[in-house]
Amino acid sequence: MPYPFRQPIWNKISVLSLLLAAGTVALLGFMGYSYVRSPIYTQVGKEKQQPIPFSHELHVGQLQMDCRFCHTSVENSSFAGIPTTDTCLKCHSVVKKDSPLLAPLHASKASNMPIEWVRVHDLPDHVYFDHSIHVNKGIGCVTCHGQIDQMEVVSRDNTLLMKWCLDCHRHPEINRREPKDVFDMVTGDSGSARMTNQAQVNPSSDDMSTYVRFLEEFADKDAQINPNQYQLQKVNRPMNCSACHR
Ligand code: HEC
Ligand code: HEC
Ligand code: HEC
Ligand code: HEC
Ligand code: HEC
Repeated sequence: MPYPFRQPIWNKISVLSLLLAAGTVALLGFMGYSYVRSPIYTQVGKEKQQPIPFSHELHVGQLQMDCRFCHTSVENSSFAGIPTTDTCLKCHSVVKKDSPLLAPLHASKASNMPIEWVRVHDLPDHVYFDHSIHVNKGIGCVTCHGQIDQMEVVSRDNTLLMKWCLDCHRHPEINRREPKDVFDMVTGDSGSARMTNQAQVNPSSDDMSTYVRFLEEFADKDAQINPNQYQLQKVNRPMNCSACHR
């Protein structure tokens, strides 16, 4: 006589709770996954309040300033560099000297305390990143940072996730530019096309001459990139873990 097969009730419960547990793990995993890719985590587009409302839209977009004037070490070191108070004062000891917006700048000079700019891009400590290699291999600022010249307040244009780095390292040739275009926001606009917005600012003639003198001092910078550094490595593409996790 066949044994009447009846599952004990606790068996059903345990199967059910196992399913439930698996579901919960999957859901949590998915939530974590979506969170890590969501703008809340990656901070793409998130603007941060700065101690002085410094505008790239004004200084780069309208006044045509080159990135390297303020981010002085971007070609030669891992760190791009953040301008000192004295760099701003090269113009602002004359230009808009009495603007209330610049009060923290003069206070910083008087007290000899640097301005505490809030970081927008910040990789975890276990990641190694170097600006100079990217810039010297022809990756433009705009490829990673977006159209800084249109940002009144800087925000992230890319996720900075590992996947983002690797996607480019797989095909770096797609993103490469001519050396002369690395600092330009639009390919091939080196200098002249960037002038299009200039008419929007009308500094007083004193202000203008300070700033024109300054641009002239700086004019030979474009010649300084060494094109010989521009070959991409054929082997040893930085895909192995130790390239970025040292
Ligand atoms: C007149 C000086 C000046 C010039 C020129 C300038 N910057 Fe900046 N930049 C700053 C200052 C000051 C900050 C910090 C405050 C802020 O984030 O706005 C900054 C911040 C940044 C940041 C965010 C840094 C962070 O905390 O992660 C990026 C990216 C950046 N600049 C890119 C550029 C690029 C690209 C150019 C050229 C197209 C450029 N900058 C030109 C002064 C300048
Ligand atoms: C090459 C010259 C130059 C440098 C260097 C420079 N600026 Fe300016 N800045 C200007 C000019 C020109 C204006 C616009 C003046 C106008 O609207 O008449 C301006 C305007 C400003 C304003 C708006 C002031 C207002 O009252 O509207 C702020 C804030 C400012 N700059 C901050 C900075 C900071 C911070 C730095 C350093 C990171 C800096 N600037 C470096 C030339 C410069
Ligand atoms: C390959 C992508 C890439 C390129 C190209 C690039 N940056 Fe960056 N930038 C980054 C990353 C990633 C960070 C965050 C670095 C960190 O946290 O250690 C960063 C940070 C910065 C900062 C904050 C200070 C620092 O060094 O951490 C500034 C300013 C900056 N970049 C300016 C520039 C300028 C100007 C250019 C063009 C000359 C440029 N970057 C080109 C990816 C890039
Ligand atoms: C848009 C393209 C691009 C992006 C995005 C990018 N890289 Fe690179 N990276 C390159 C190129 C090009 C090279 C040089 C490769 C070569 O020489 O073959 C390079 C080289 C490197 C190297 C090797 C440096 C050395 O000393 O040899 C490291 C490390 C590196 N990248 C880290 C990163 C990290 C970390 C990120 C993300 C935060 C990143 N890169 C994002 C294009 C990119
Ligand atoms: C081109 C640079 C690059 C290479 C190569 C690279 N990583 Fe990463 N890795 C990053 C960056 C940037 C982050 C931080 C952003 C993130 O968490 O995605 C990171 C984060 C991580 C994390 C931490 C994840 C987290 O959630 O905090 C681990 C683990 C990791 N990488 C392992 C690896 C391993 C294993 C390899 C080799 C197969 C590798 N990485 C190769 C750039 C790189």
